[in-house]
Amino acid sequence: EKDVHSKLPLRGKKVLITAGPTYEAIDPVRFIGNHSSGKMGFEVAKTAASLGAEVFLVSGPSSQKVKHSFIQRIDVKSAEEMYNACHKVYKTVDIAILSAAVADYKPKNIATQKIKKKDASLHIELSPTKDILKSLGEIKTNQFLVGFALETNNEVENAKKKIKSKNLDLIVLNSLQDKGAGFAGDTNKITIIDKDFSQQVFELKSKKEVSKDIINEIINRIDA
Ligand code: CTP
Ligand code: CA
Repeated sequence: EKDVHSKLPLRGKKVLITAGPTYEAIDPVRFIGNHSSGKMGFEVAKTAASLGAEVFLVSGPSSQKVKHSFIQRIDVKSAEEMYNACHKVYKTVDIAILSAAVADYKPKNIATQKIKKKDASLHIELSPTKDILKSLGEIKTNQFLVGFALETNNEVENAKKKIKSKNLDLIVLNSLQDKGAGFAGDTNKITIIDKDFSQQVFELKSKKEVSKDIINEIINRIDA
């Protein structure tokens, strides 16, 4: 039941949020990355903080800026750095929302010198990164754990599989079907699915409004 007298429903709650892409080094000057802007995660962080939460915002390389006394920003580059930063605070948080677009693969070896061009194909062997979200699901005690999913086909079915395989309480499915939804833009179209597979489809809206919908759904479930 909600505390109707409190305008700050997340007061006293600690929240871990990941945002942005990760960069996986190839050599001292190159990396494998993706087009995630970090906007969605930063909006979620701002919304949570505005509702009283103490936020740890673990961000990959992003031009996003945030200044809020309740938000502690922790900058990382690689998936491994993000993994370590998340595990450092996870035990202390009440809610974890992993919106970062973490690289699934990293170069198996990082060249110590800049790779010189040659007149032939270049092969870079990749090895899997650690799944941060899955690792948090495995050691979950009381945390409310939220993942994101980006799918291009069988969206809902695949998102439900991720809820199970990563031991999530909620997943935010990003729909790429609509124009204006996605990585770099200012809007998103989401479907929220919880661990009981109850499903809610939202309209295309600004990432700020989307972040309010996400936080609302979390608050409704942690108060229940
Ligand atoms: N995630 C993570 N660590 C990784 C990869 C993904 O924490 N190394 C998290 C993302 O932050 C997101 C969720 O897992 O919350 C789902 O990411 P997504 O890329 O949709 O799924 P994957 O499990 O990586 O599977 P695939 O890319 O094959 O769909
Ligand atoms: Ca992935």
